Amino acid sequence: MEKRRLLITSGLPYANGPIHLGHMVETIQTDIFARAMRMMGHEALYMCGDDTHGTPIEISATKRGIAPEDLIKETYASHTADFKGFDIAFTNYYTTHSAENKALAYDIFEKMQAAGLVRVEKIKQLYSESLNRFLPDRYVKGKCPKCGAEDQYGDVCEVCKDRYDAIDLVEPKCVLDGSTPVIRESQHLFISLSELADFLRDFAKSDALSSEVENFVMTWIEEGLKDWNISRDKPYFGFEIPGYPDKYFYVWMDAPIGYMASTMAWCKANNKSFDDYWKNDKTEIWHFIGKDIIYFHTLFWPAMLKVAGYALPKRVHAHGFLTVNGTKMSKSRGTFILASKYLKTLPAAYLRFYFAAKLSTGVDDIDLNIEDFYFRVRSGLIDNLANLHNRSFSFAETKLDGKLSAARFDDDCRKLIGDTKARLAEICKAYENVDLAAAIKAICEIGNAANLFYQNQAPWSYLKGENADIEKARAIVTACAEVVRLIAIAIKPVVPDFAEKIFAQLNLPDQNLADIDNCLGDGNVISHVEKTYIRPERETFDALTVPDETEAAAAAAAAKVLPGEEKVEEHKVAEIVREPLKPLIDFEDFEKLDIRVGKVLACERVKKSNKLLCSQIEIGHPDGPVQIVSGISKYYEPESMVGRTVLVVTNLKPREMFGLKSCGMVLAASDDAGLELPGTILRAPGAKVK
Ligand code: 2FM
Ligand code: ZN
Repeated sequence: MEKRRLLITSGLPYANGPIHLGHMVETIQTDIFARAMRMMGHEALYMCGDDTHGTPIEISATKRGIAPEDLIKETYASHTADFKGFDIAFTNYYTTHSAENKALAYDIFEKMQAAGLVRVEKIKQLYSESLNRFLPDRYVKGKCPKCGAEDQYGDVCEVCKDRYDAIDLVEPKCVLDGSTPVIRESQHLFISLSELADFLRDFAKSDALSSEVENFVMTWIEEGLKDWNISRDKPYFGFEIPGYPDKYFYVWMDAPIGYMASTMAWCKANNKSFDDYWKNDKTEIWHFIGKDIIYFHTLFWPAMLKVAGYALPKRVHAHGFLTVNGTKMSKSRGTFILASKYLKTLPAAYLRFYFAAKLSTGVDDIDLNIEDFYFRVRSGLIDNLANLHNRSFSFAETKLDGKLSAARFDDDCRKLIGDTKARLAEICKAYENVDLAAAIKAICEIGNAANLFYQNQAPWSYLKGENADIEKARAIVTACAEVVRLIAIAIKPVVPDFAEKIFAQLNLPDQNLADIDNCLGDGNVISHVEKTYIRPERETFDALTVPDETEAAAAAAAAKVLPGEEKVEEHKVAEIVREPLKPLIDFEDFEKLDIRVGKVLACERVKKSNKLLCSQIEIGHPDGPVQIVSGISKYYEPESMVGRTVLVVTNLKPREMFGLKSCGMVLAASDDAGLELPGTILRAPGAKVK
């Protein structure tokens, strides 16, 4: 296998707030990918850092009476502590407020100027005379110029979705002090992106983007690329633009350059050549990002790299947003979970495992459903993989003096190990494709097969009595220990602490893909066996969403002063387009619906469907429970459905789906952020819903 060189990045977290589980989806996904590449023998650097510039940082610092430099230092300490808690193995975690970033930003800007891509234009903007500053779009609110809706930001109306210029807002007010802004002119610097349309079209169609992301990008290109304003007026926390006093680079100009700055700082400290990474076609640059910042990473960023003569991304991998219990994270519901709170509640490995199990290749949102989280961790990690380790290793240590031997391997032992090794290639392919869910699925299947083998072979039955044959028991346990070793190699990128404990108890050095043929046998000894994970209590998981006043208040305060300059709405791809209300119906029509309370008695996945669950639901009818097929498997595990009280439309004409009869419909709330079954219903099955 040819050794590859990968330079991997995840989006730089903004330095104005704490790390929450939304950030962790991306960081965990990226870290698993980087670790997997290393496990497979490749060179894989993971570069990241804090994104530190912009109005929100400057305003936050001013409010607190501290310098922005001190604010970002504070955040840096908290961000790095959280990432350490989650076992994120950055090669370097740096900051955009650095000498390297400034030098690189200047270099790229000057090259864009030399290429004739920078033009200067006077534009009109809202200005606060009381604060002596221009107001970014998210710092003004007023009535939508189109539909008149009150309390809308200066860029887009949340009600009618119309986009407009802030100066067109009706009765604008500054969100900082409530004053009425005036319109003022100011000179700004624009990058003529449209001149690079041909290059960007080729980039969009290259292998760098999945076809899903390519579609978004091509739509933007075909709609016509708008010139990009890269300057901001003072006061601003950032880099002053050379040749333009009191003008600063917009935070999004120098943020991605932070990937390079982080590399440069690491190269300096480790005596490496920066150009080997950023000016070398052999280096694969992989960016992991959220789907809301695709625009920046597939249009502005490649344009900057191209013009300045740097290597282009080999891959821009976008993921979806995190929802918690089926809905957008919310502070009031306690589902805005901070990383620090998570780390005080549960082991990092559980979330790493769960996110990996849910993350596939697309930009679909992923849901952290607490019930599902508990069940998956228990059934996949604890009762399967950790159990296989614990039962086989404990047996070896207590009954066989820890000594292993392959001398008496029979065909069954050889088959178990051979089958496992054969699946490692599939698992590596899954990692390469960033299909972490497929990797976890395969690893859990290996675990299930080995647990079954252990159960059927019953090594304990060879310890005494007529069947006594201790060497047979040793062979069985050695085969299982070997599978545990292979599982540990395969799952090391996801739960490195699990693998580390296993290698230590096997008295082996760190193991990688290159070690898979070094099968355990004579001379290998198991010792100091300890469980990898203790079976968790369900209540601990529930504690995650019990609002914690201090943290929620801190996050809310941070969010307040961060009205989203960095998340420019027009570049987002996941919007809720509210459906218009349906025409009015007569009461008699409503009465035709028979909606009742139902209790789910049993539930299973529908074979060959990745959307459907089939439930048996008690609806308090003498004919007994009804069978209903629902498209909810993305949000609810079958086990987590059992015992739930739901609302059911009982008199829909039966339909057949995947060969199963469905006699009704389970009601659920659904929007772009996910799907949610109704909460507590205390009525007994059969109660009518009116
Ligand atoms: O969206 C964000 O939170 C940005 N801070 C991400 C920056 S990614 C990169 F370009 F720096
Ligand atoms: Zn409107």
